[in-house]
Amino acid sequence: MQNKISLTHPVFKFISEAAEESGFDTYAVGGFVRDQLLQRDCKDIDFVCVGSGIELAEKAAKKIDPRLNVTVFKNFGTAHFKWNDLDLEFVGARKESYQRDSRKPIVEEGTLQDDQNRRDFTINALAVSLNKNTYGQLIDPFSGVEDLGNKIIRTPLDPDITFSDDPLRMMRAIRFATQLDFVIEKETFESIKRNCERIKIISQERITDELNKIILAKIPSIGFILLEESGLLKIIFPEMQNLKGVENYEGKGHKDNFYHTLQVLDNLTKTSRDLWLRWAAILHDIAKPPTKKFVPGHGWTFHGHEVLGSKWVPSIFRRMKLPMGPEMKFVQKMVFLHLRPIALTKEEITDSALRRLLFEAGDDIENLLMLCEADITTKNREKVKRYLTKFEVVREKLKEVEEKDQLRNFQPPVTGELIMETFGIKPSREIGVIKEEIKEAIIEGKIKNDFNEAFGMMLELGAKLGLKPISE
Ligand code: CTP
Repeated sequence: MQNKISLTHPVFKFISEAAEESGFDTYAVGGFVRDQLLQRDCKDIDFVCVGSGIELAEKAAKKIDPRLNVTVFKNFGTAHFKWNDLDLEFVGARKESYQRDSRKPIVEEGTLQDDQNRRDFTINALAVSLNKNTYGQLIDPFSGVEDLGNKIIRTPLDPDITFSDDPLRMMRAIRFATQLDFVIEKETFESIKRNCERIKIISQERITDELNKIILAKIPSIGFILLEESGLLKIIFPEMQNLKGVENYEGKGHKDNFYHTLQVLDNLTKTSRDLWLRWAAILHDIAKPPTKKFVPGHGWTFHGHEVLGSKWVPSIFRRMKLPMGPEMKFVQKMVFLHLRPIALTKEEITDSALRRLLFEAGDDIENLLMLCEADITTKNREKVKRYLTKFEVVREKLKEVEEKDQLRNFQPPVTGELIMETFGIKPSREIGVIKEEIKEAIIEGKIKNDFNEAFGMMLELGAKLGLKPISE
């Protein structure tokens, strides 16, 4: 870690000059200072001045480029503008305190120290001076630099106060611990445990934002384990909490599905950065608890968990305020199909089984295979190797079948309209029957995925159903 802040970007000189002219002591603060010290890229910079943040923003923007557009939030006393790829936010230093059951703060003007006191963590409470005489000096009242070096998340004040001011900070602590691979200091973590119920006053959108950041981290399991240990998981995601635990019967236990799910998720991060595929990993076994059964002489079974799990996806997405469009449908499909590729590796692979999978997975087949590979969590290395080799065979064969039959984006070679025209019939059950049987015949390899063969079959099926082509 470095302990110098690089203020080489021209933006700092402009803001420093504007600060000097306004007579406001001004500092770059928060995440930007933290990320500079960690040598992480940061495009959002927050500035605090002892005075009017709005006036400072307007002055600074004028100096940089008079055409810049400054957005002012009068009620909050903040102003914001973009310059090239930078997002710059200005605020006057404040003393802030919150009422217990509301997020609405009572705001008063304050000093830099007041502003630092009300920040979430010591590593986020660092400030760097932009004032002429002390330019570049780090102001670190809570030993944030030391905490950065020791990889510790800690609140600047009594954690009960900091978390009570904004309970979302409990999730933020866990999110930072996950993203940065830091440890949450004991007192701070104990306070999260004590205050976890307070998360209920936070909007679902803010909670989900933090959850998604945890999911997109390199090792998301760090965050989920902390969420579980703190008591937050059972409040924000009870279905996932229910995955935890092992039941024993007649000396036979099943695996703990919470830790298994986390391992699948961590495995997947090595091959995919896709948030939705990661959600599919989180939800793939979500319905195991209610489908669990002990079958004497056999052991634990979870029959139908993929079907029930996929049925749960829309309600979980709705509650989490996640998008209800194609992203949700994709996750639902992945959960529904997650057992299929592995089932293929266990038996003789037939072309019709491959065609059926291609037909159902469509363009998402590669994502499905990635999810299934991540789902192999056995500790037995030989077994892992065997599965992975078989997966390669499945991949190869899927490629061959796809090249031959082009089933990925299957369009029925004979449409409903053509069936109606040919037999002179109105919309009816028979049309569905004919289309379904043609599709099945293509998947089973009885006919090719081509118009002539499908048309011939349609005539045969029509005859069986007592239909006659009108041209005869
Ligand atoms: N902050 C806080 N309490 C919150 C949110 C933010 O005290 N609930 C403060 C922290 O000092 C933080 C700064 O506001 O550093 C900026 O917040 P934000 O942009 O949300 O977070 P960053 O720390 O910049 O991190 P990230 O961009 O990864 O969210």
